[in-house]
Amino acid sequence: MKVTVVGAGAVGASCAEYIAIKNFASEVVILDIKEGYAEGKAMDLMQCASLNGFDTKITGSTNDYSKTANSDICVITSGIPRKPGMTREELIGINAGIVKSVSSSLVEHSPNTIIIVVSNPMDTMTYLVHKTTGLAKHRIIGMGGALDSARFKYRLAEALEAPISDVDGMVIGGHSDKGMVPLTSHATRNSIKVSEFLSEERLNQVAEDTKVGGATLTKLLGTSAWYAPGAAVSGLVQAIACDQKKIFPCSTLLNGEYGLSDLCIGVPVVLGRKGIEKIVDIPLSDAEKEHMKASAEGVKKTNDLLEL
Ligand code: 2OP
Repeated sequence: MKVTVVGAGAVGASCAEYIAIKNFASEVVILDIKEGYAEGKAMDLMQCASLNGFDTKITGSTNDYSKTANSDICVITSGIPRKPGMTREELIGINAGIVKSVSSSLVEHSPNTIIIVVSNPMDTMTYLVHKTTGLAKHRIIGMGGALDSARFKYRLAEALEAPISDVDGMVIGGHSDKGMVPLTSHATRNSIKVSEFLSEERLNQVAEDTKVGGATLTKLLGTSAWYAPGAAVSGLVQAIACDQKKIFPCSTLLNGEYGLSDLCIGVPVVLGRKGIEKIVDIPLSDAEKEHMKASAEGVKKTNDLLEL
């Protein structure tokens, strides 16, 4: 199993680190345009191999896509991260050109690859990869919901004063401060609906805190987060590599599912060796349906900024 991670910045390097530590991939190639940077990150990570007990071979390349040839999975993290106060959508001007060129180069050397898109604005970048590469829709996956759901569970556990291992919850919709749809009606504490423990007001606060989870960290850190994004990507990569048939909320191209078409947005999917093996249709409350519709309108508005 060969995995390429484009972008050796904090997010890309965390992706590579968590994938290696899980020890299911034979090879991880990190690629960056900055001279020596990917090679340095790869070497530093390889020097953790004996300490963290993995056999995955991590190598780095400065912009030589031949080193990524025949990758089974390619992760695109390249592009600029947001600064405090910025929205993810404001990154489109720079990141669209980067993602277009990177996805073309990846598919040129790995025509059978599955692509996972992380670069923001992620739902629009995922849509751009479809338009750029023409890959089958089940092989292009946007990572946002897995990260947002992890933040949702963090906030739920905090409100419930419960261990995170007892909490389950999912966030669908756009990966944006206003477009996320935390499914509070589905969230559970060890199979018991969280509404049995939390007031509607407290649950709404959990949902609002989840939506700005990324922006909260950007304010604290001065840049986008990287540990949880990297860990979320590694979970998707492992589900594909190990054919786990796990359900994650991922951004995928919809053709009528959830009443939406011609956009990529977060919905529950089954991930396996083929990539997105099934889009899972779940019942939504009227409020959740409304939020999803509004979220889709927001994503399409950002898509319209692409010069396709
Ligand atoms: C985040 O929410 C980078 O979009 C990513 O942290």
